[in-house]
Amino acid sequence: MDWFVRAFIKSALVYLGLGICFGLWMGIAPTAVIYRPAHAHLNLLGFVTMFIFGVAYHVIPRFSGHPLHSVRLATLNWWASNTGLVVLVIGFMFLPWRPQARGVVAAGAVIAAIGALAFVYNLWRTLDGSGPKPRHDSGMGRRLPMSG
Ligand code: HEM
Ligand code: HEM
Repeated sequence: MDWFVRAFIKSALVYLGLGICFGLWMGIAPTAVIYRPAHAHLNLLGFVTMFIFGVAYHVIPRFSGHPLHSVRLATLNWWASNTGLVVLVIGFMFLPWRPQARGVVAAGAVIAAIGALAFVYNLWRTLDGSGPKPRHDSGMGRRLPMSG
C-alpha cells in the first residue's frame, strides 16, 4: 500500500472522529449549531472525500490496469487537502464570532480546491493510461503490486 493511501485513510478516520464530536456537541447543545459548516466539512470533505481519495488511489490503478499517473500529484493532493481542510474548518469555527475569518475560510477553500483538482487530473490521466511506462521485466508495472 502506498504511503499516501494509508495517510488519506488515517486522516479520514481522524476527521470522522472530530466530525462526530461536533455532531454530538450540536445534538446535545443546540446553540452549537453555529458550527454546522465545520461539522459538515469534517465529515463530508474530511471523512467521505479523503476516504474516497485513499481508496481510489489504491484500486483505480489496479482496476484499470494502468500505473498511477503521478505520485507527486498524489503527494500534493494529500498536503493540500489536509492543510486546506484544517484552515477551512478553523475559519468556519471563527466566522460566527469574527467576520475577518472570512479570509481564513477563503484561504482554506482555495488550498482544499487545489488538492481536490489534483486528484481529478491525476485519476483522469491514470484512467487514460498516461502513467509511467511499465518496465518490461516487471509484469504489471512498478506501481501495481496486487498485495501489500
Ligand atoms: C454521531 C454522528 C453525528 C451526529 C451526532 C450528527 C449531528 C448533527 C446535527 C445535530 C446537525 C445539525 C442539524 C441542525 O441543523 O439542527 C448535523 C448536521 C449535518 N450533518 Fe451530522 N451528525 C453526525 C454525523 C454526520 C456524518 C457522518 C455526516 C456526513 C458523512 C454528517 C453530515 C451532516 C451535514 C451535511 C449536516 C448539515 C446539514 C444541513 O446543511 O442542514 N453528519 N449533524
Ligand atoms: C474545496 C472543497 C470545498 C469547499 C471550499 C467548500 C466550501 C463551502 C462553503 C464556504 C460553504 C458555506 C458555509 C457557510 O454556511 O458559511 C459550504 C457549505 C456546504 N458544503 Fe462545502 N465545500 C467544499 C466541499 C464540499 C463537499 C465535497 C461536500 C459534500 C460532499 C460539501 C458539502 C457542503 C454542505 C452540505 C454545505 C452546507 C453546510 C451547512 O448546512 O452548514 N462541501 N461549503
